[in-house]
Amino acid sequence: MAKKKPTVFVCQHCGYESPKYLGKCPSCGTWNQMVEERVQPKSDSRSRVTISGKASKAEPITDITIEKEERVKTKLVEFNRVLGGGVVPGSLVLIGGDPGIGKSTLLLQVSAQLNNDGGTVLYVSGEESASQIKMRAERLELRGTDFYLYAETDLSLIQETIESIKPDYVIIDSIQTMHHPEIDSASGSVSQVRESTATLMRLAKMNNIAIFIVGHVTKEGNIAGPRMLEHMVDTVLYFEGERHHTFRILRAVKNRFGSTNEIGIFEMRNGGLEEVLNPSQLFLEERLAGATGSSVVAAMEGTRPVLVEIQSLISPTVFGNAKRTASGLDYSRVSLIMAVLEKRAGLLLQNQDAYLKAAGGVRLDEPAIDLSIAVSIASSYKEKETRATDCFIGEIGLTGEVRRVSKIEQRVNEAAKLGFKRIFVPKNNLSGWTFPKEIDIIGCSTISEVIKKAFN
Ligand SMILES: Nc1ncnc2c1ncn2[C@@H]1O[C@H](COP(=O)(O)OP(=O)(O)OP(=O)(O)O)[C@@H](O)[C@H]1O
Ligand SMILES: [Mg+2]
Ligand SMILES: [Zn+2]
Repeated sequence: MAKKKPTVFVCQHCGYESPKYLGKCPSCGTWNQMVEERVQPKSDSRSRVTISGKASKAEPITDITIEKEERVKTKLVEFNRVLGGGVVPGSLVLIGGDPGIGKSTLLLQVSAQLNNDGGTVLYVSGEESASQIKMRAERLELRGTDFYLYAETDLSLIQETIESIKPDYVIIDSIQTMHHPEIDSASGSVSQVRESTATLMRLAKMNNIAIFIVGHVTKEGNIAGPRMLEHMVDTVLYFEGERHHTFRILRAVKNRFGSTNEIGIFEMRNGGLEEVLNPSQLFLEERLAGATGSSVVAAMEGTRPVLVEIQSLISPTVFGNAKRTASGLDYSRVSLIMAVLEKRAGLLLQNQDAYLKAAGGVRLDEPAIDLSIAVSIASSYKEKETRATDCFIGEIGLTGEVRRVSKIEQRVNEAAKLGFKRIFVPKNNLSGWTFPKEIDIIGCSTISEVIKKAFN
């Protein structure tokens, strides 16, 4: 009689293992995520993934020579920026994002770039056939001689191919479709994803190959499959954007080789992704002149200032409780600002519905946008427009004071560059820098003062 292989229940969310089924995961607390998987032989039998045969050993720190950190800069400036200055050889980068957002397109373009600069690239897809990828490449007008396409999901075959082609860069699209032949579980299960990623990690480190892996994102915003995938890799990037808008933001959420504040902005066109080097212009493009309930803020996205329009629609509540929504803005921040406006600036907002939005589909989350939110609400409430060339920067405190913000000089310069003439800033931000001559800088200390000056 064949002995039944032992199984174990694995949480698909965090990777917790239990010998028996549990409804709720004791480790991460999610429900109904335990899936039965075969127990795997311990990894010593399959951990040797060296190509060069080179093995690492413990050395005293003083004996270790620092190899000059070489980064490969692609011609995509926005992409380099998010990676912290360029692609680091031997690094494992995970790119997550919603279905159809453009992950494959981005990586195909990056592959062509890297190949044009003399790198050998292997693009492995478990989702599309080689001819489908070729069709996309033609549409994007990409070609290259050392640019290999490979439609495969079996990791051991992929490993053999890597050994024969010896690429500098490998793209794995996507990790959820890959399977390790020695693991019995289905593709996309925790065990598969974990083993496949571990194998790729070893390949990357031992052979100094930069590997990019695509991961699908679940509704909750996690990379589908285990959270631990994010711990295993060097860098995690999210590619995001709204389905109905053409621009896309590439954001670093983890980076062992750089800052995680940086974002790269792209626009999805017919010919592929194009870099947006002047995002402010894009976000202000459709601003309607003379509309009420609109104001502009210079917000920081990483180290870069970006001008964004904040829109409000305030109208009397017809029935029951006042309705409030905020898209692209933090709802509790908006509620707080409305309470401050009511209490400190005498705006009767409690029986008004309020709908707020950061135009263009961006997400803003920093205190410096408070003042602009407040002015936008006041503008709609009073049915008076702000001047088209006004910009508002400042945090608002609970007593209605306008508080100092960071990077004021960069914000003001960006606004000046785009033709704004009058900029409201916190009074405490006025000293210590010189502002552009042609700009009218108005230092303010309270929200009611700003409203008085802005609507006169
Ligand atoms: N023929 C085309 N012309 C213009 N744009 C196209 C064309 N085909 C696809 N696109 C754009 O490319 C996007 C899909 O990009 P891509 O396949 O790179 O996304 P993805 O994130 O890899 O998706 P998936 O999760 O399905 O793998 C589509 O949403 C569409 O905007
Ligand atoms: Mg894809
Ligand atoms: Zn769990």
